[in-house]
Amino acid sequence: MKLSLKILGGCIIASSFFSCQNTDKKEATDTINFPNKDSELALLMRELFEDAENVKSQIRKGQTPAFFTEFEKLHTAQPTDTDVREDGQYTAFADVFIQSVRQLINTEEDKTKQYNKMVKRCVDCHQQICPGPIKKIRKLHIK
Ligand code: HEC
Repeated sequence: MKLSLKILGGCIIASSFFSCQNTDKKEATDTINFPNKDSELALLMRELFEDAENVKSQIRKGQTPAFFTEFEKLHTAQPTDTDVREDGQYTAFADVFIQSVRQLINTEEDKTKQYNKMVKRCVDCHQQICPGPIKKIRKLHIK
């Protein structure tokens, strides 16, 4: 009883905050086959989110931003939706995003501005491919 409640709770939280589409046809089976919510790419994205939160506070304190995510894994990590890379859109967005991270690391100028550009690149990809977490990602923006 306790365990099933816990799983159910996890699914509700996962589907309201994280999943790309809350009302997908696949949802019924996804909630039963919970592992779908924990694809390699989903885990990488959670790591990326924490990483960005961390960098946000580093920039606010005037420290040098330091990422720990291995960005190249964006191109190889197994996604929930197996054909996410099929039409080339994802790959193009990933390249632009990685480029924006490099610019942030290398810039001698305003890091806040570069950081906000990077967050915009997260949102760009999500708008096309995975709208679910956009609200959460927008909170990373530095005002
Ligand atoms: C190239 C496209 C792309 C970029 C860039 C991108 N994402 Fe994602 N993101 C995805 C896809 C696709 C998923 C769905 C992963 C899955 O379910 O396998 C996802 C999932 C997520 C999730 C939900 C993970 C979960 O628990 O299921 C979060 C949060 C997230 N991304 C945050 C971010 C943040 C923060 C950035 C930028 C720092 C970012 N994303 C950049 C494509 C992208």
